[in-house]
Amino acid sequence: MTVVAIDGPAGVGKSTVARRVAARLGVPYLDTGSMYRAVAWKALQADLDPGDGSAMARLIAGLRFELRSRNDEAEVVVDGTVPGARLRTPRVDVATSRVAVHPAVRSWLVAKQREFAAREGAVVEGRDIGTVVFPDTPHKFYLEAPLEIRAGRRLRQLAGRERGADRSRLLREMRDRDERDIRRSASPLRRDETYEVIDTSTGDAEQVADRILRAVRAVTAVP
Ligand code: DC
Repeated sequence: MTVVAIDGPAGVGKSTVARRVAARLGVPYLDTGSMYRAVAWKALQADLDPGDGSAMARLIAGLRFELRSRNDEAEVVVDGTVPGARLRTPRVDVATSRVAVHPAVRSWLVAKQREFAAREGAVVEGRDIGTVVFPDTPHKFYLEAPLEIRAGRRLRQLAGRERGADRSRLLREMRDRDERDIRRSASPLRRDETYEVIDTSTGDAEQVADRILRAVRAVTAVP
């Protein structure tokens, strides 16, 4: 069973690359960020403070949470609803990085990530996939690019949906999120020597995916 871990900060191109790698390997793609986002979305709906650990522990205890395979991707279903694009707003971005600091939320979601990947393998994207969720996989990739480039990408993604998405606010929010992801004590974003580090500021997603596939095939016999 093949598990490929793809970690790195926001806006670095993880999703596009991970999706391509998954399609080429014929395994499902799991975006773990969308799981943290779904919890944050429910917290906002219930008017709860995402920074309140006990409130978040109570919230998850009452959630029906499912990962459903759809078109070779894991789709989050929460209390019977597929939140989809509702998870991709700047408000949810901010709430999610606050929800993601709580160990109770993390261990609950990590168990679901492991269970999903145990079925038939997966390409799993997140912040702690190679360090905490699947530390034993030989396939760990850390994508990185300067903040300015990542913010520019995110701005283009938002342009179609968010009127007046403004660059300086986005830069500030992205920097704050990076800081929270790196500095939190529970499973912070970090890389160690077991990762192959890939700079995505030059080269397109296809080239990055090719590089990952070559590295995976060099270690494991996969299609
Ligand atoms: O990858 P993303 O932008 O959808 O992630 C949203 C937030 O969730 C981000 O602030 C970091 C957090 N996250 C995390 O802490 N651990 C993961 N495995 C995935 C995401």
